[in-house]
Amino acid sequence: MSEHIFRVSLQREDVVPIYRQLIAQIRAQIESGALPHGARLPASRKLARRLGVSRISVVNAYSELRGAGYLSARAGRGTFVSHERGASPSPPPGLAPRQRAGSLRRMMRLALRPGVIDFSGGSPPTEFFPVRYLQDAINHVIERDGADALSYEVPEGYLPLRAAVRDYVRAIGIDCRAENVLITGGAQQAIDLVLQSLMNPGETLLTADPTYLGVIDIASARRVHIHGVPIDQDGIRIDALENAVNDLQPRLIYVMPSYQNPTGHLMPMHRRRQLLRLAARQQIPILEDEVYREFRYDGEELPPLKALDDSGVVIHTNAFTKVLLPGIRIGYLVADGAYYERLVRVKQAADISTSGLNQRTIHLLLERGMLAQQLERNRIELRRRRVAALAAAQVHFPPGSRWVAPQGGLYLWVELPAAGPSAAETYIAAIQRDVAFAIGGLFYTGDGGSHALRLNFGTHQPASIEEGFKRIGAAWRALEVEYGSIEKSVIM
Ligand SMILES: Cc1ncc(COP(=O)(O)O)c(C=O)c1O
Repeated sequence: MSEHIFRVSLQREDVVPIYRQLIAQIRAQIESGALPHGARLPASRKLARRLGVSRISVVNAYSELRGAGYLSARAGRGTFVSHERGASPSPPPGLAPRQRAGSLRRMMRLALRPGVIDFSGGSPPTEFFPVRYLQDAINHVIERDGADALSYEVPEGYLPLRAAVRDYVRAIGIDCRAENVLITGGAQQAIDLVLQSLMNPGETLLTADPTYLGVIDIASARRVHIHGVPIDQDGIRIDALENAVNDLQPRLIYVMPSYQNPTGHLMPMHRRRQLLRLAARQQIPILEDEVYREFRYDGEELPPLKALDDSGVVIHTNAFTKVLLPGIRIGYLVADGAYYERLVRVKQAADISTSGLNQRTIHLLLERGMLAQQLERNRIELRRRRVAALAAAQVHFPPGSRWVAPQGGLYLWVELPAAGPSAAETYIAAIQRDVAFAIGGLFYTGDGGSHALRLNFGTHQPASIEEGFKRIGAAWRALEVEYGSIEKSVIM
């Protein structure tokens, strides 16, 4: 196929870097159909010469458009307009947040390529999974309970497991009965059930910005408006929250008091009390998501919000996913009477009940002391990995980068210098060096996080962490050189 002719006109005086202008113009021509599927683009060297720009500007533009699904490269043949046309572009500032998030997600698929040191996921280390114990427990349950283990379970959950959860949360100060415990398909379903049972489409959910990506997804699926409140080192800012409560009349507040995803922040005691006072005064329920609670490496253990809650506004969720086995999909909610009844109805409508076999198996693993054993091992090994991550960040990340050493959780949240390459740009360069991270913008309800990265250090051995962070630093530095030359060309 012959090379397609397309027009590019660059504004050298513009503050928008040349390669960004290139991205925007090529994208526009693909979207308008001026560049049809299968059209071949000029070789980067040729186009650079034609436009009088550096070749790396063209290479970076092509690479970002490939990441966003607009172009594809065929080895030895060139660069073509791909068939995923209509895909939204990679994230130039000014795009609607939903559209931007979509393109960031498409870029994140590149992390799945084999051989990539991938810091982008949310999983605990798979080598920790107690696979053989699980196998034995499943066999034991089937032998013990036969068909009962494979029948419909009651929607509230297998009673012995609910009682075990009651005992578990009592130990952290939550005074409840098994009748307040609802077993769910992981914390993800727990969040979804709470949104469905307490909110109508169009109503407002308040959370921190940044927040857990999954809650942004659920809000979008349930057509609930989600508003992110700014944070500081102690978590969600109470002054900003108060303003948002007054302005937006939210129906629910969602927070992660322990080692927040993605920042790793721990909400201190005084902030917990302020948050509770505000919610109780305004009678707004709080959903506290404690899935990282058990990943504590140093600092004191703080009570969950539910343990401090005198007015019944807090709904507590946690799961046996991060701490034991994500794929078994067992989590739970602890809620007071009026909320509880509604939650059970929504749960039954959603899936009748969570797998009885899986509930019984998790219950048996708890009885056998597997959780305590697992937690001890997690702490020792993950603490070691966290030390490695902090040391590698210090050595390899660009001067001017900022992070707070997390006291727990799986993630290191890094803010790159605002004047340099963005996280999305760094990602594209990093993936070429076979390393990936989660791009900060994914975790914002609106704009934000353009220079932030989330790194799951828990899933790698110290040597891979060192190597991976080194490659990220190198990717950033390579782009930084390009930034310098763009500035020069703008001045000329
Ligand atoms: C804060 C938070 N909540 C909930 C979940 C979902 O967990 P589960 O596997 O229990 O559904 C995750 C998973 O990454 C998470 O980070």
